[in-house]
Amino acid sequence: MDVQPACQVLRTEAALRQAVARWRMAGPPVALVPTMGALHEGHLALIRAGAAGGAQVVVSIFVNPKQFGPNEDFTAYPRTEAMDVALAAGAGAALVFAPGVEVIYPAGFATTVRVGGLSEGLCGAQRPGHFDGVATVVTKLLLLCLPDAAYFGEKDFQQLQLVRRLAADLNIPVRIEGIPTVREADGLAMSSRNRFLTADQRRIAPLLAGVLHDIALALAQDGARVAAELAAGRRRLLAAGFDPVDLEVRAPADLAPLERVTGEARVLAAAWLGRTRLIDNVAILPGSGSFAAG
Ligand code: PAF
Repeated sequence: MDVQPACQVLRTEAALRQAVARWRMAGPPVALVPTMGALHEGHLALIRAGAAGGAQVVVSIFVNPKQFGPNEDFTAYPRTEAMDVALAAGAGAALVFAPGVEVIYPAGFATTVRVGGLSEGLCGAQRPGHFDGVATVVTKLLLLCLPDAAYFGEKDFQQLQLVRRLAADLNIPVRIEGIPTVREADGLAMSSRNRFLTADQRRIAPLLAGVLHDIALALAQDGARVAAELAAGRRRLLAAGFDPVDLEVRAPADLAPLERVTGEARVLAAAWLGRTRLIDNVAILPGSGSFAAG
């Protein structure tokens, strides 16, 4: 990872709006990469994608309390701002927006953005209120920055589809770009939470991607085997020490559950290794005899 001295860090709405307005007068497009910090290669791929399109890239760093449940890891979530700023600069960010909680949720804040349907199953079922928190903060970040494009990773596939939906539904004039998942050499999807894995758990963790790839390959060849492949995948993960395991095949656009694969589909997983919840997903491309690691 390329670490650069730093880039500008802004903390207020007024400072961000002024910087973006200045760019707008000069002409280049503006891209937003929303993050909660603890940046890794997955985030840097989003920043590089924005910068490659010639945009001035704003990276927001905000650990959003509204998307953590009462028993989740909000307090333990890694906070590494100085390193994040250097990494963002190295990847081509023009500035970092790192507001305090009072900037995003000032006293009296009372609005929740809720995306019906898409926020309900999968991670939404396991983490009640999580996607309302995500939808609320992403809406705020988009309206604060007013970027031409915003970049999200396909690793959080449900989040990506939900953001696409909210931007369309609320007429927010922004292009939502989904960027393929960045993986470690052994296939594990990069995540800020991987640092919570013990050495033993880290050895086991890549099996999640392996099982998803095997299911995607099998279903690309025979779309009628959804139930059988999911059951076999679940067994393999439980036997390796993941528990609980949620594995599902869904339609990519609206995430409707699929009992049979007849067109493009996605296999999604959420599975716990000890106290760490890992998520991942892979595209199923029927007829191609293959899959796309997404
Ligand atoms: O994916 C994340 O890091 C967060 O959910 C996001 C999009 C930055 C909103 O807090």
